[in-house]
Amino acid sequence: MSSQFPEARPRRLRRSPELRGLFQETEFTLNDLVLPIFVEEDIDDFVPITSMPGVQRIPESKLAGEIERYARAGIKSVMTFGVSHHLDASGSDTWQERGLVSRMSSIIKGAVPEMIVMSDTCFCEYTDHGHCGVMHGAEVDNDRTLVNLGKQAVAAARAGADVIAPSAAMDGQVQAIRRALDEAGFSHIPIMAYSTKFASALYGPFREAGGSALKGDRKSYQMNPMNRREAVRESLLDEQEGADALMVKPAGAYLDIIRDIREASRLPVAAYQVSGEYAMIKFGAQAGAIDEARVVRETLGSIKRAGADLIFTYFAMDLALAGI
Ligand code: PBG
Ligand code: ZN
Repeated sequence: MSSQFPEARPRRLRRSPELRGLFQETEFTLNDLVLPIFVEEDIDDFVPITSMPGVQRIPESKLAGEIERYARAGIKSVMTFGVSHHLDASGSDTWQERGLVSRMSSIIKGAVPEMIVMSDTCFCEYTDHGHCGVMHGAEVDNDRTLVNLGKQAVAAARAGADVIAPSAAMDGQVQAIRRALDEAGFSHIPIMAYSTKFASALYGPFREAGGSALKGDRKSYQMNPMNRREAVRESLLDEQEGADALMVKPAGAYLDIIRDIREASRLPVAAYQVSGEYAMIKFGAQAGAIDEARVVRETLGSIKRAGADLIFTYFAMDLALAGI
């Protein structure tokens, strides 16, 4: 009996939900997701972020309760961003023992010790000019900023942060932080390097969320979105400097970069679905154009399929509450 044309019929494996599930190649669980949060000092009530429907700044006084709620829902890890009322030229609040960076970690670890705290390590939410480091004229001074990054990382580790996540996009930042942590007795604390951080327009809503004072842009330190080879170079440099994991940011428009880095390194690769990606999905769904729950799963699944081991996403809590 000769077989009928066409011989190859991929549809055979798609006939039922059970078959589709059995042959599904990519999956994500709450083990793969990190929830970024914004914590503001000296306020009493939650502040909705209008450009990110569903996301609010958390008052510091309510942080412990929020973390308990996330843990109950199944969230395993958060990334902390502080909204500071103590701005200065260098962002010195970040390395104070009682500064906001330190308090966020100690409050979270005090509330839920097993919650993994990733401490975003930068200055832009603590500087009066809004740049990610110390200025020298019109430019960010790379090497003076490195010293301060080391101080901030040590302060965060001392307060209980589990992972240091430098996002300042300074050259040599991973090595500077590794040395500072090791000298202070924190050789066991890993560095999640924002190794490929593009100067992206998709960070727009984050600037509102973080109350950024920035005028101008970050193109002299963050990467040109058009560069693929350079992205791999940046990531491999961070690996050489001692990064424990690499991150690509943003995620959805940079799936090729995630795949390149997955293939160029053996380190874990993370990707950050940023504020603009979140906002596009939320507002598209609010307008009735797309099905939010499905688009969230499709975008996160695509980021995993591209090669990311973990994903930073503002949808993490929605997914946890939905039972993923
Ligand atoms: C700043 C920082 C930014 C984000 C994370 N850390 C913004 C920027 O570089 O301007 C963006 C996150 C997001 O858009 O969700 N170091
Ligand atoms: Zn910054």
